[in-house]
Amino acid sequence: MDCGNAAVDRNRAKIKGSTEVLATAIFAGSLPDRVSSGSGAPGRIRTHDPQIRSLVLYPAELPVRLRARKLCIAVAKCNPAICAHLSDKALPDRESCACPRACANHGAASLPLSPGTNPQMADSTATKSDRPASSRGTAPVRVLASVIGVAALVAGTLADAQTAQPVPPKPASPWLDASLSSDTRADLIQAQLNEDEQLTLVKGYFGSDLKLSFIKPPPPEIRPLLPGTAGLILGVPRLGIPQLIETDAGLGIANNMHARPGDTATALPSTLLTAATFNPALAFAAGTAIGSEARARGYNVVLDGSLNLAREPRGGRTFEYAGEDALLAGTIAGEVVRGIQSQHVISTVKHFAFNDQETGRGVLSANLTEAALRESDLLAFEIAIERGNPGAVMCAYNRVNSVYSCENDFLLNRVLKHDWNYPGWVLSDWGGVHSTVEAANGGLDQESAANFDAKEFFGAPLKQALAEGKVDRARLHDMVHRILRTMFASGVFDNPAVKSAPPLAANAAVAQRDAEEGIVLLKNDQNMLPLAKNARRIAVIGAHADVGMLSGGGSSQVVPVGDNPDKEFPVGGRVFILPNGAPVMPLNRQIYDPPSPLAAIRKEVPAAHLKFVEEEDVEGAKKAAATSDIAIVFVKQWMTENEDVKSLSLPGSQDALIEAVAGANPRTIVVLETGGPVLMPWLDKVPAVIEAWYAGNGGATALARILFGDANPSGRLPITFVQSENQLPHPELPGANWHGGMFDVDYSEGADLGYRWLKKQKLAPLFPFGFGLSYSHFSTANFRAGAGDSVTADVDVTNDGKTAGKETVQLYATPPDGVARLVGFSKVDLAAGETRHVTITAEPRLLAHFDAAAQLWKIAEGSYGVAAGSSSADLGNAQTVTLHAREMKP
Ligand code: BGC
Repeated sequence: MDCGNAAVDRNRAKIKGSTEVLATAIFAGSLPDRVSSGSGAPGRIRTHDPQIRSLVLYPAELPVRLRARKLCIAVAKCNPAICAHLSDKALPDRESCACPRACANHGAASLPLSPGTNPQMADSTATKSDRPASSRGTAPVRVLASVIGVAALVAGTLADAQTAQPVPPKPASPWLDASLSSDTRADLIQAQLNEDEQLTLVKGYFGSDLKLSFIKPPPPEIRPLLPGTAGLILGVPRLGIPQLIETDAGLGIANNMHARPGDTATALPSTLLTAATFNPALAFAAGTAIGSEARARGYNVVLDGSLNLAREPRGGRTFEYAGEDALLAGTIAGEVVRGIQSQHVISTVKHFAFNDQETGRGVLSANLTEAALRESDLLAFEIAIERGNPGAVMCAYNRVNSVYSCENDFLLNRVLKHDWNYPGWVLSDWGGVHSTVEAANGGLDQESAANFDAKEFFGAPLKQALAEGKVDRARLHDMVHRILRTMFASGVFDNPAVKSAPPLAANAAVAQRDAEEGIVLLKNDQNMLPLAKNARRIAVIGAHADVGMLSGGGSSQVVPVGDNPDKEFPVGGRVFILPNGAPVMPLNRQIYDPPSPLAAIRKEVPAAHLKFVEEEDVEGAKKAAATSDIAIVFVKQWMTENEDVKSLSLPGSQDALIEAVAGANPRTIVVLETGGPVLMPWLDKVPAVIEAWYAGNGGATALARILFGDANPSGRLPITFVQSENQLPHPELPGANWHGGMFDVDYSEGADLGYRWLKKQKLAPLFPFGFGLSYSHFSTANFRAGAGDSVTADVDVTNDGKTAGKETVQLYATPPDGVARLVGFSKVDLAAGETRHVTITAEPRLLAHFDAAAQLWKIAEGSYGVAAGSSSADLGNAQTVTLHAREMKP
């Protein structure tokens, strides 16, 4: 930050003990006449000058550089645009940024942050008298005017009309006119930027000061500003362009490795669980909760909208993504993004594209034909972008057809920016940039966390490439325009994020509702569930069910509300030491989101005797099960970014544990806490199975309500559960024996992944995509399929059960030459006995093939099977409709 205070150490004027007014440096000799101590508030003084209502006092021992920064902070108090530049550490009372709009509007362009000074100057001028007298005479005068402005801003009020000293007129900031379009506003402010300032906006820093072996430390002058988050992009204070403060937030505001000790946030369920709700409104609510908590921390960019298709169910981030189907994933992720951005914070979608596994993610090349690319993962992104209008797209680590995603002209320039006409900006994944010229010309607009990359690519190297004409200046202009217009469009300028208390109670309710609708009842023989509330003895076994519900690891890791750090379970990794000496947890820790299932079950049946046994104690588990009315076995599969799971089997001896418990008590319920699908060799031996995924802070309560019938399960699988890994397109994980070096992953299944792959191979899954049981029964009648530009279906859905419940009508279409595909869905809430009419229109691109030669989507003329199913394997009675040939531009 550039704060005009070169003379700071030269003109001290002691006011009170060892405390001095920083601004005295600038007021020079005149201060004693204008300022006196004694406002009563420690650290503050009052001035006699009506324009200077208060100044902040700082201890004299503060190093010059720090005092310089403090002055900036004082200035920032009345300017949200500048406030956004300050980390919590730097400005603990940042809420004082909530100053009147008038101040914000005036402040940005007129702040007295002298462009000609810098922090180095503050140090180098610590001894004064070697400056020429003329300069000593003029500088204070110039700065004096500035500080009057500063102080007025600090006070949050401008001078009264009768004030003796006229306030200099503020230069106009026409870009603050919210009635103009975002593009026009961006043009107006961009015209004021010099090249270095433009370059500032296209390069980011890792937002945390954690010492990680694989990154270079941030420059010293940046370190005090680091917000303890994923990333930071400096703004341009002289024009009021705020910093971009980026936080991960796949499942709530992340605090990976406890970078911000003690900062807990609402842990929402995994995105895969949210996809299992098949409920876009809940996805929107989850996004809104995330956005609200980002905003309340002053963050203005949320790195969410994760939706790589689950081609590889062993992929370590399967829990962060929204399943295997392009329509469902695009819809859910798009709604999450829309919810986030409803809070005036920018969201990404990521990772563009085909980061479908973690093993070798930084080097592998995902290889597909253009048709397959467009019809699968890219279509999911396209739908998400259309629905959510994300401000930014994060390009992926991996290569796609041999070219790194973050310099992939085809992905970024042709598909995203040209075909989809995307107006936002492309930011790189952390460490995902490999070049300057290729990346800039290939469509990358911002290098994130440049200190993660092998070397910095968009700082000085980009400046040089511009000078040499290897990157056109119009390209830099385009990068910056995309960033600025998005900041205007999303409200980052007009509604800057201000630190405040997040709506935790409301968000807890969202987390619970989300979990309640996304937990999937997979098996329920003889209506084993719901449990009667008069059960007397219940054995609760395994998976730290006395602590909480398992969460996934990696950059999306939330430290949940109610976290007990003593109940986190390290799984390797080193302890990092913060600059202040505080130890930081190892990267890999299994965190369990409270409350515990044990506590939530106790709440449902306070009179019952609950016996908890850990998974290692198999004999104890058997004994507890044998002496209980019911046994509930919790089993877990921990997934984390950066590594794939070794197999789809439950880790350790958990399969054997289930068999042992089921052998001891036939009334055994299995609760799965998994990132994705798992194998179930014990399935025939247990009457009831629930997939609870990573259910978050609301998970245990939701689960207990489902177990005891307070809530009726309505989750549907967003991903296929195979019977064995041999059913997968890649029975062995690609790169399973990888030891470094580039490798190819040929996705020869093309766009037919997941349930479509199994259908094509005529394989029966363990549990199909779209499957899930309810405590009610639903029937459909009067199904009518129609065809026009697309396929439509009308159907009546009835709840034949005795309990209110939700049914998801899934519309599948089978093209003449292909396998059935989900083309629409609708979740309906039905009281017992109620019937509702549902109309669904298919998303036409899902009926089409992409003709790469013609660069067109083409719906083939012919007969299409249309069915309203309850899962991809239960399509009911299909009808046939005839579609005419149709072409659509990409
Ligand atoms: C992840 C991104 C994340 C970024 C910042 C990367 O390792 O792939 O999803 O947003 O880190 O934490």
